[in-house]
Amino acid sequence: MPVARVRDFHEDDLDQVVRVWEESRTAGRSAVHGLAEVLAAIREEGFAVVAVVGEIVVGAAATRVSGDRGWVVLLALANDWRRQGLGSAMLTELEKRLTGAGVHRLSALLADGETGAKAFHNCGYEPREVTYFERVVPLQPQEIGLLGELGGRMLPAGLWEALAGMEHEKQLIERRIVLPLVDPDLAEQYGVQPPRGVVLFGPPGTGKTTFAKAVASRLGWPFVEVFPSRLAAGGGGQALALRETFAEIDVLEHAVVFIDEVEEIAGQRGGKPPSPLQGVTNELLKIIPTFRERDGRLLVCATNFVRELDPAFLRHGRFDYVIPVGAPDAVARGAIWRRYLPAGVIERIDVETLVEASELFTPADIEFAARKGSQRALEVEVYGDVQARPTVRGPTTADYLAALAETRPTLTTAMVDEFTEDIATIARL
Ligand SMILES: Nc1ncnc2c1ncn2[C@@H]1O[C@H](COP(=O)(O)OP(=O)(O)O)[C@@H](O)[C@H]1O
Ligand SMILES: [Mg+2]
Repeated sequence: MPVARVRDFHEDDLDQVVRVWEESRTAGRSAVHGLAEVLAAIREEGFAVVAVVGEIVVGAAATRVSGDRGWVVLLALANDWRRQGLGSAMLTELEKRLTGAGVHRLSALLADGETGAKAFHNCGYEPREVTYFERVVPLQPQEIGLLGELGGRMLPAGLWEALAGMEHEKQLIERRIVLPLVDPDLAEQYGVQPPRGVVLFGPPGTGKTTFAKAVASRLGWPFVEVFPSRLAAGGGGQALALRETFAEIDVLEHAVVFIDEVEEIAGQRGGKPPSPLQGVTNELLKIIPTFRERDGRLLVCATNFVRELDPAFLRHGRFDYVIPVGAPDAVARGAIWRRYLPAGVIERIDVETLVEASELFTPADIEFAARKGSQRALEVEVYGDVQARPTVRGPTTADYLAALAETRPTLTTAMVDEFTEDIATIARL
């Protein structure tokens, strides 16, 4: 075998170094340091060496300096040159240059199974027990401006966990939507295509918007709401504006795109006078197939009137699931009540009674009644007749029951019946 020698890195070596870097990646394992970081270290700090045979680069190593510490961010060898001491030779050369520059602590992070461990051992690096934490912020720095222009934003973590009750819907969305998007590799092993589009339907105030945001928060993807009917009717009209909006969204690495009240633009065709938004509707139908081609995105449409949607709009090829979000059951109502009752008094409040009294109340109605009950108790405490003041301070079950009596539930039995019918005829789970 020809002899390899180690020398300083030259700018001309870059293409070959990238090739060696790629070759040395163990299949399926991701290195701690990505290529961009490695290249930055090589270019900006200059402590990089290569192993060459003639003009051919067969190995490369590079460090980044931080105070008196040098981080080895690259140690790569072409396949045919493993286990011949070249890794150690490159580390030794780097160490000479680094100590000359005042570095006296050398560190390296290897992912489990990444190559190079032997060379580090041979050069006197000691393995240390550490816990390596890493968080990858899903938004690339260059995406931030664009996201702002689109009116989108990153939502805080934890919205999913904060969604009270609704276990049935939560489980369904967790399994069908979140799981394959979070772990596309696993999904692929089972032949499951990650969903690209989903329609949420149900009576107003049941939490459709809340679910859409919670999914974005759960995935850690930016949330972009699109308002087709509000798009500026500029030169090319709303349809063009919609197309441009989706073209911009396409630049984002990840996105949950939300269209609320989608029946406004995707209502049944024919019958009624043609909708002035027909052009926008047609445009959206054209956009969806392209939207579906890319990974890392999900379109969520919400509607209170699913039966008014054009059946063609709901087709399989456009939306993977049509999911009902209904009124909360007793367990869910209990969870929602507890969420809005003040922590200090919750012990002595009869939540069961409130749950029974709030049938047909949506989460939004319960939130409203809970606020109202608390407000009522506060006013009695501050402005009420001193004699008539209750001995215990703070809101009581009676305050919330009174507030409930004054709150009209959003849902009627007729709506619940319609919703049940829609589940039977339109839902797709
Ligand atoms: N499961 C829930 N837990 C707590 N609050 C909820 C829940 N679902 C909805 N809400 C609250 O109810 C209100 C209305 O919900 P929203 O998602 O806008 O309903 P929709 O989009 O179905 O009309 C919001 O203030 C939201 O915070
Ligand atoms: Mg909504």
